[in-house]
Amino acid sequence: MEKAVAERNPFSPSFGKIPGIFVNRDNLTSTIKDRLITHDDLYQTTLVSGTRGSGKTVLITEVASSLARRPDWIVINLSSDEDILPTLARKLYAGSAGIMGKLFKPFGNFKVDIKGIGAELGRENETLTEVDARINIENMLQALKRKKKSVLVTIDEIINTPRIRRFASVYQILIREDYDIQLLMSGLPHKLSELQNDEGMTFLLRANRIELEPLYLPEVKEEYEGAFASRGRKILPEAAVAAAKLTGGYAFAFQSLGYELWEAGSGTVTEETVNSVIPAYKKMLFRNSYQKIYAELSAKEREFVVAIAEAYEGNRASFSEMKKRADGQANYASVYRNRLIGSGLITPAERGYVRFTLPFFADFIENDIVPYLD
Ligand SMILES: Nc1ncnc2c1ncn2[C@@H]1O[C@H](COP(=O)(O)OP(=O)(O)OP(=O)(O)O)[C@@H](O)[C@H]1O
Ligand SMILES: [Mg+2]
Repeated sequence: MEKAVAERNPFSPSFGKIPGIFVNRDNLTSTIKDRLITHDDLYQTTLVSGTRGSGKTVLITEVASSLARRPDWIVINLSSDEDILPTLARKLYAGSAGIMGKLFKPFGNFKVDIKGIGAELGRENETLTEVDARINIENMLQALKRKKKSVLVTIDEIINTPRIRRFASVYQILIREDYDIQLLMSGLPHKLSELQNDEGMTFLLRANRIELEPLYLPEVKEEYEGAFASRGRKILPEAAVAAAKLTGGYAFAFQSLGYELWEAGSGTVTEETVNSVIPAYKKMLFRNSYQKIYAELSAKEREFVVAIAEAYEGNRASFSEMKKRADGQANYASVYRNRLIGSGLITPAERGYVRFTLPFFADFIENDIVPYLD
C-alpha cells in the first residue's frame, strides 16, 4: 500500500501573510470590522500598534479583505512609500469602476469632470498632482456617498514622512466634510507616536489607538491542539500548555514554535518533543525577528537593552541593577526605560523590575549580541 503523503507543515513563520492557523484575538478583528460597518465614530480613524511580528499586517489584512467582500464597501490598500494622494485617486476610480460611469450620468456637469479624471487617471505614467488628486478624490467621494458606498483606506507600516503628513491633513478635511471614508493604519508603537505628536497631526491623538496585546495563552494552547488533531496528529495537553508558555503570546513565536513542533516527527508531540525543538525555535526567533528589532533600536536604546539583559535574573531585571550596568548613563535610565516600554519591548514587572515582552529576548541579547559587541 502506498504511504500517505506527509501533510504540509500548516504553520507559517513568515511575515505579512495570513496564516493558515490563526489565534483569535478576543474577536478584535470582528469588532473592528463591525464598528466600521456601523460607522462608529470612534473607529473611523483607527491605529493598530504593535512590535515587529505581533500581527499588525495580518490583522488589518483580515479586516480589509472581509470588508472588500461586501458590495457596499470599497477598500483601498496603500503603502507609506508611494505617492499616497494620486494613488488613492487612481484606486478609488478603479475600485468604483462601473459605478462611476453610471453614477455620473444623471449629473450632467459632473460627467465632464469625471471624464477628466478617467483620462488623467488612465495614463499611469503621468503624474497627477496632489492638488488635482485631492479635487478628484472629493468629487468621487461625493458621488460614492450618494450611492451609499463606504470607503476604507488602509496603510500598513506607517512612518512619519511628508507624504503621510500631507495625506493625513487631506484626510482630516475629508472627514470634517463628512465624507464616508475611514482610515485603518498600523505601525510600530514609536513610529505611530511620532506621527501622532507631529505638529498639525494632533487630530490623530484623538484617533482610536489599539495596542496589540499578546495572544491569550489558553487560546494558543487550544490552537496548537486543534492544528494537530485536525490533521490526524496529536499533541498532549501538557505539551500544548508548555508550548503556549514558550511563545509568551508573541504571534510570530506561535508560528515559529508550531512549525518546529510539526517538523519534529510524525508521532505524538510530548513535553520532551517541545524541549527538543527549543534550540531550533530560538534560532528562528533570533534570526528572523529579533535581529531586525535590535537593528532598529537607536545606539542608546541598545545600550540599555544590553544593560537590562545583563541585569536579568530569572524572568525579570531589577531596575536599579540595570542602572548600575548602564555605566555613566544612569541619569537617562528612566527616560530609556519609558522609551522601551513605549516601543513594546519591555514591560514593568513587579515594583522596581522590568521584563522583556518577547520570549527569550534576554537570551538573544546575551548570546547573539553581547559577545560580538566591540
Ligand atoms: N492572530 C494570529 N494568530 C497566529 N499567528 C499570527 C496571528 N497574527 C499574526 N500571526 C503570525 O505572526 C507573524 C507576524 O505577523 P505580521 O506579519 O502580521 O506581523 P507585523 O506586526 O505586521 O510585523 P512587522 O512589524 O514586521 O510588519 C506571521 O508569521 C503571522 O503568520
Ligand atoms: Mg507588518
